Amino acid sequence: MMLGVWTAQTPQYQSQGDEGADCVSELTRLPGLADVHVHLRVPGGEHKEDVRSGTAAALAGGFTTILAMPNTHPPLVTLARLQAAQLQAQRESLCDVAYYAGASANHVDELPALGSCAVALKIYMDQTYGPLRIEGLATLLACFRAWPKDKPIAIHAEGPSIAVGIGLAAAFGRSVHFCHVSRRSEITLIAHAKHQGLAVTCEVTPHHLFLTEADLPRLGTLGDMRPTLAQQADVDALWSHIDTTVDCVATDHAPHTLVEKSSTASPPGVPGLETAVPLMLTAVVEGRLSMDRLVELMAANPRRIFGLPNQPHTWIEVDVGDTFVISQEGLHTKCGWSPFTGMRVRGRVHTVCLRGETVVRDGAVIPTARTGSVC
Ligand code: NCD
Ligand code: ZN
Ligand code: ZN
Ligand code: ZN
Repeated sequence: MMLGVWTAQTPQYQSQGDEGADCVSELTRLPGLADVHVHLRVPGGEHKEDVRSGTAAALAGGFTTILAMPNTHPPLVTLARLQAAQLQAQRESLCDVAYYAGASANHVDELPALGSCAVALKIYMDQTYGPLRIEGLATLLACFRAWPKDKPIAIHAEGPSIAVGIGLAAAFGRSVHFCHVSRRSEITLIAHAKHQGLAVTCEVTPHHLFLTEADLPRLGTLGDMRPTLAQQADVDALWSHIDTTVDCVATDHAPHTLVEKSSTASPPGVPGLETAVPLMLTAVVEGRLSMDRLVELMAANPRRIFGLPNQPHTWIEVDVGDTFVISQEGLHTKCGWSPFTGMRVRGRVHTVCLRGETVVRDGAVIPTARTGSVC
């Protein structure tokens, strides 16, 4: 086995050791990763995912911190509901979890209190899964006024809504984070806003980096999510901004059961926690981004943008010599499927160490009791 050690001082990961020609395993140590966009489905959607299954999937995928979205049933738009969700995660989570508060027109008065408990505010400007959508500029203004200035606002914004979000960031002189950016025009606009010095940041998802609408005939509703899959030119634009405009790779892990996905009212959303690292490592092996950049996109930038606490004695080991075909066997997510099934990837999460405790060994999740905490 070869062991590579990644450090901030090491410009490229370096492989060390030698075990003979028959061993293709090549372990590289990286910091614990952070996924800023995960749907845990608690409360109300526990048949899709619960805290235990979702955080097991996170650890198996190399994420030691996840940020949980508020579009639950009921949604996390009041202090009582947010604290109940945090309490449950405090009892059950295997990795560290931080919670978004949801913006809702009927509960703007709750935002100052929510602001002291949540990691960030989530505003849904466009239609997607769940009941949360803010309509009208007046409500947007009220949310921006009420949310503490030192805490980020993340927005589900598609197309022209991104221009509105940039306008609000400029007018209020505060930072705004754009979720799952997927179109060439969107990433171009965000690049322009950054060049003007505005405090905007953004994430892209693996499914928008590795799939296009050409995959839809094959995937059917399993390829349906918001934003929808785009064209190759959009995917190319996201990759061309991967070293510059893109701040984070986030999964938008949005599990729904196969029964739900094959129903007539199929909900949008795909799981992603357990496939993101193999896909991104494949891109590293193919020379589409450096290992250093992967660490920025999946660990350093998420932690900086959302002010996440440090996790001492926490790291992961990935095996970039491990080539395999993604399958739904052995997934930890309750939904039990992946839109990437059948894709050949290079790179697997081998070991995860959280605060000195080995929680994933040879790809297997070990803990049965809580090992995470709520931040
Ligand atoms: C998400 C979900 O299922 O909660 N679905 C999706 O298609 N992305 C909601 C969202 O993130 O927009
Ligand atoms: Zn070996
Ligand atoms: Zn969204
Ligand atoms: Zn989402």
